[in-house]
Amino acid sequence: MAEPQKIKIRVCQGTACFVMGASELMEAFENMPKEWNDVLDVAAVPCLNFCNARSEIGSMPYVTVNDVPYAGMTSVKLRAMIKQLVDEAKNPVVVRKAD
Ligand code: FES
Repeated sequence: MAEPQKIKIRVCQGTACFVMGASELMEAFENMPKEWNDVLDVAAVPCLNFCNARSEIGSMPYVTVNDVPYAGMTSVKLRAMIKQLVDEAKNPVVVRKAD
């Protein structure tokens, strides 16, 4: 049986995102339930290059979750998003083919 895919989270630590609170996002992971570590793949990364397009996609700080970018991330929003994804990962919906 294949290993379940981890939830890939990248937190921008570029200057603009850092100033707008990205370091607090990394600190937020320290206070998350330890059992979430089994399904999370978290890394701080240099500038994701979304800051140059902020007028179109929203404000800093930026995070990607499974390669999807999110603007204006806060630790509260991030925790809620991760909780939902962890719940889904631990309780996957089984889809059966209709006869
Ligand atoms: S500093 Fe975060 S996207 Fe550039």
